[in-house]
Amino acid sequence: MENSKMKAIIYSEYGGPDVLHLQEVEKTSPKSNEVLVRVHAVSVNYGDIIARNFKNLPASEFNMLALFRILAQFGFGFSKPKRQILGNTFAGEVEMVGSGVKKFKAGDQVFGYTGETMGAYAEYLCIPEDGIIALKPSHMTYEEASAVPYGATMAICLLKKVNIQKEQRVVVIGASGAIGSAAVQLASHYFGAEVTGVCSTQGMESVKSLGAAKVIDYKKDDFTKNGESYDLIIDVLGKGSFSKYKASLGQKGIYLPVSFKTSKLLQMLRTSMGGGKRVICALATPKQEDLEFIREFLEDRKLKPVIDQSFPLERAAEAHRYVEAGNKKGNVVLTL
Ligand SMILES: NC(=O)c1ccc[n+]([C@@H]2O[C@H](COP(=O)([O-])OP(=O)(O)OC[C@H]3O[C@@H](n4cnc5c(N)ncnc54)[C@H](OP(=O)(O)O)[C@@H]3O)[C@@H](O)[C@H]2O)c1
Repeated sequence: MENSKMKAIIYSEYGGPDVLHLQEVEKTSPKSNEVLVRVHAVSVNYGDIIARNFKNLPASEFNMLALFRILAQFGFGFSKPKRQILGNTFAGEVEMVGSGVKKFKAGDQVFGYTGETMGAYAEYLCIPEDGIIALKPSHMTYEEASAVPYGATMAICLLKKVNIQKEQRVVVIGASGAIGSAAVQLASHYFGAEVTGVCSTQGMESVKSLGAAKVIDYKKDDFTKNGESYDLIIDVLGKGSFSKYKASLGQKGIYLPVSFKTSKLLQMLRTSMGGGKRVICALATPKQEDLEFIREFLEDRKLKPVIDQSFPLERAAEAHRYVEAGNKKGNVVLTL
């Protein structure tokens, strides 16, 4: 008889990494428009860490608009998590498809992003065929492929909003992280920009290898004091400010905080009128075509995954502890 159970990492209350535990749960089954994926690898992202302890998260640590925090509370659940399986960036094999599915078939090797639906810290997940799912590049392992969809789709969505031109000068602050490492590669290899990566000492070599023309250690140097002028400054964690970077922006330079609160949104409104230096706050809303684009880029070997460490799924709590300590470079992956 077919096994109706699956292994998953469950959390039934908000809290530290130890709320995550391995359990057997009902195996998920696909609706007519869905694909059932046997998960082989899943990456641990910023969203997993936030969602795991959402109830106790100080407002200061939620680095997006306060309105999003309220909306997220409805999505995640107020006193207890509504969705008990975290994980949104996966790679695996299609085990079965719903009756209406045309794009995928059993046996396809795929990778993708489930967004706020989560559900990937498990042996199986379901995703609509028109969701953010694509065939995995055949030269990549599941582990490698699982490290790509979140950072790369976010990065390409955001970069498309600022219309970078060839040879423009771009700074990526947070260049060693999931979004930053993809942004460095896409800005330099796809848009042809000259990229300066900003990260801590430990990430410098990796960021250089991704195509950054220059890498600056923010613990030792302040790029705003080097007298250089840039067309675009991408600030992944939004820790900086327009006033701090304004003098380092060229005449029509753009400051793009990937994480932003109301004050930065107001600056965007203010700066949108003058025709000079601007702040652009944008939300990345990736679609299947974005992952398709990323897949082609991977096939051409112009984008590579950055994996810091892998842990077996059973050690999800340890992986969360590692990520939460703030040492992660690129992506941390759980394997099944
Ligand atoms: N706008 C949108 O639609 C959107 C979508 C998704 C996510 N986000 C936002 O993106 C953020 C998460 O990005 P991520 O997943 O790429 O995170 P991540 O993987 O944790 O990367 C963040 C990087 O920032 C670096 N960093 C930490 N402190 C820094 C500092 N003072 N100066 C410069 N760099 C610093 C860290 O590198 P070092 O170790 O080298 O310091 C780290 O690698 C969240 O704030 C989330 O809200 C926004």
